[in-house]
Amino acid sequence: MKVSLNLMIVVLATITFGCKENHFKKDVVMAGGKYVSAETLNYGKSVYTEYCMPCHGVNGDGNGVAAKGLAAPPRNFKLGLIKFGDVASGELTHDDAIARSLREGLKGTAMLPWDLKEKQTDAVIQYIKTFSPKTWFGKDKELGEKIVANNDPYGLARKTQAIEKGKKVYHGVANCQSCHRGYVNLQEFNQILVSVGEDKVNELDEDFYKIKMQDSDHGYATMPPDFTWHEVRSAQNVQDLYIRLAAGVGGTGMPAWKGTIEDDEIWAVAYYVKSLMEIKDTPSRKELMSRFK
Ligand code: HEC
Ligand code: HEC
Repeated sequence: MKVSLNLMIVVLATITFGCKENHFKKDVVMAGGKYVSAETLNYGKSVYTEYCMPCHGVNGDGNGVAAKGLAAPPRNFKLGLIKFGDVASGELTHDDAIARSLREGLKGTAMLPWDLKEKQTDAVIQYIKTFSPKTWFGKDKELGEKIVANNDPYGLARKTQAIEKGKKVYHGVANCQSCHRGYVNLQEFNQILVSVGEDKVNELDEDFYKIKMQDSDHGYATMPPDFTWHEVRSAQNVQDLYIRLAAGVGGTGMPAWKGTIEDDEIWAVAYYVKSLMEIKDTPSRKELMSRFK
């Protein structure tokens, strides 16, 4: 009697486990009219379970066993928010942008580059969407307009002008230092203010050189990076930066700049931010910082 009961438990467990392996029975139409088969979702689940679950969690809530103590928490997929998309933040991103974060990782975080096969990448992306069906399911859901970086008005030949202009846009019309830190002294700041037709100031705001933490929809405060000190997670070159600035960072205070400032201004700021990133860990950074004392 005892033996058969044990046997029954084993059989039941096998059946239950088997069912879990084939969790999805129905095909789904995702945002953007993407047809995804149950087979793809089941395959995506197996990829996720093997590689992603330790951080992103069984339920996709970002609370996996390896997530404790990570400075940037793993994304909670239940919220349906993607930070580093290729559409204006707030709109639904294309799979390409998610695939890029998988392929290249998010620099400076625990999210490393993954060397997955294309089929694995696609399946796991579709699977993580199932944690937020409200966001992603339904053929009526549209993806945002894809932002591409193919109209650089400067190019290498006019890099210096781009950086100069970017510095003005950053501290002037865009006021990036209202969240990020500033990188000019009082005299330079006043020159910038005058050039955009504003009044000079007698002193800089007391938090001008400080990072201002920002609330987010992700459930934690996010940090606008100091480009000469922190890693920029989703962008390494001017083109990447153009896309990040135009698109913003989903669910955070970092706005989509496309349509708010001119396109050539976004390019100029991208060159300027890149120039700040380049002095990270070099004597030039020390030199720049010494001018603000
Ligand atoms: C070692 C922990 C770890 C593992 C393993 C891991 N991630 Fe992440 N992942 C993170 C962290 C941390 C972030 C958040 C970084 C941030 O907010 O800047 C993240 C962010 C993401 C994002 C959000 C990108 C965005 O633009 O919002 C996606 C998508 C993602 N991970 C997918 C995956 C997939 C798929 C796997 C498995 C192939 C995986 N991750 C494995 C830690 C991990
Ligand atoms: C209202 C506040 C705010 C303003 C204004 C703002 N940012 Fe941000 N920015 C943020 C926050 C918050 C983050 C970090 C979001 C996150 O990744 O969690 C960020 C992130 C970034 C990133 C890094 C993205 C990455 O891949 O890690 C760049 C680059 C950036 N901002 C550039 C700019 C520039 C240039 C301007 C001005 C044109 C600007 N920001 C204006 C709040 C702001």
